[in-house]
Amino acid sequence: MRTTVGIIGAGPAGLLLARLLHGAGIDSVVLESRDRAYVEHRQRAGILEQGTVDALRAAGAGARMDREGLRHDGIELRFAGRRHRVDFPGLTGGRSVTVYAQTEVCKDLIALQLAEGGPLLFEAEALAVEGAVSGRPRVRFRHAGREDVLECAYVVGCDGFRGVTRGVFPASSSRVYERTYPYAWLGILADVAPSHDELVYARHDRGFALLSMRSPSVSRLYLQVPAGTDAGDWSDEAVWDELERRLATDDDWRLERGPVTQKSVTPMRSFVHEPMRHGRVLLAGDAAHIVPPTGAKGLNLAVGDVVTLARALVHERDTGSPDLVETYSATCLRRVWQAERFSYDMTTLLHRGPADTPFDARLQLARLGRIVSHRGAETDLAEAYTGFPLDA
Ligand code: APR
Ligand code: PHB
Repeated sequence: MRTTVGIIGAGPAGLLLARLLHGAGIDSVVLESRDRAYVEHRQRAGILEQGTVDALRAAGAGARMDREGLRHDGIELRFAGRRHRVDFPGLTGGRSVTVYAQTEVCKDLIALQLAEGGPLLFEAEALAVEGAVSGRPRVRFRHAGREDVLECAYVVGCDGFRGVTRGVFPASSSRVYERTYPYAWLGILADVAPSHDELVYARHDRGFALLSMRSPSVSRLYLQVPAGTDAGDWSDEAVWDELERRLATDDDWRLERGPVTQKSVTPMRSFVHEPMRHGRVLLAGDAAHIVPPTGAKGLNLAVGDVVTLARALVHERDTGSPDLVETYSATCLRRVWQAERFSYDMTTLLHRGPADTPFDARLQLARLGRIVSHRGAETDLAEAYTGFPLDA
């Protein structure tokens, strides 16, 4: 098999890249190791920055998002029983975010790709990437019980944190920057209307809690739990009880409970692989970088990468110049590190570490106090949350 751009992985990064290339008349093949149902139902975050919304619309993938997505003009910070609303448009000159689940983004992009785009092969596992610095890199893969080779002008690893593509980068010219956290998130989906109309990020002495949503009738909630926690150790009732404690306020706000339809634990990690290009092999999305979910940046970073990459590939096709492909890594990494910084700040602002002392707790409250009383500090949060421009 031959194509111009071989894409490994059909998460949001691989799917949107294929869509952008298709729109520009560049052919691609997407190889995805899992089946379609798995990719469409894997629970992930769901906060889209304005730039992500714009990119999906421009790719012709925004119709259902525009109908069903919820525009959010702020978030609430909750601590010491107090509630503080961060007003995004007021602080950023009009920016907001859209709540639309990553599962839905993937469903929309898969439907478009299968209807109009190049091949998207499910249950096609990339085994190895070869020839990164030769003229024509190759992907060896297994599909329908047979091994095959995909020959490409470029290979893009959109294969997530556990993918194979990073393996072609020689250790001598790549570096990993990484931090793991001693806590994780226990997340539930529940068939109950969200108890607040915007997301609530709560700092509590017992640990962090987040109230989010998927639709006007489906809530998504998270609790900080120790790393390595098994979701099965928490009964639904214990989760609700703990959410109630951590989200409690001094006023008459109440948490509504409902049937829990899904429960799982997400580990927390910060990770950056530099560079994001080796010869004719490029990385995009989680394959190159992971952020802890507190800043809701993972999907948005993946989208930023592939928008930048699609532009670079179109530029090379149109002008013959590989300039933008060559600067792809540096361009993306500037934005990636800003998102790493913000996600780390939000995480350490709101979580309780097992070795934290009362001093650390007081510092968190002082940091929160500064954000809610100083317009500059609050603006910094609002700007980062609503999104860094692609060419930051
Ligand atoms: N061959 C083919 N496909 C593979 C292989 C392989 N060897 N290894 C992994 N994959 C597939 C996975 O099955 C997955 O569907 O690559 C895809 C990677 O998708 P994601 O993990 O969703 O990564 P990405 O597209 O970069 O999206 C980033 O996802 O993890 C969240 O928080 C993150 O929201 C962010 C977004
Ligand atoms: C989610 O709705 O899943 C979600 C929202 C905000 C976050 C992380 C996850 O920061």
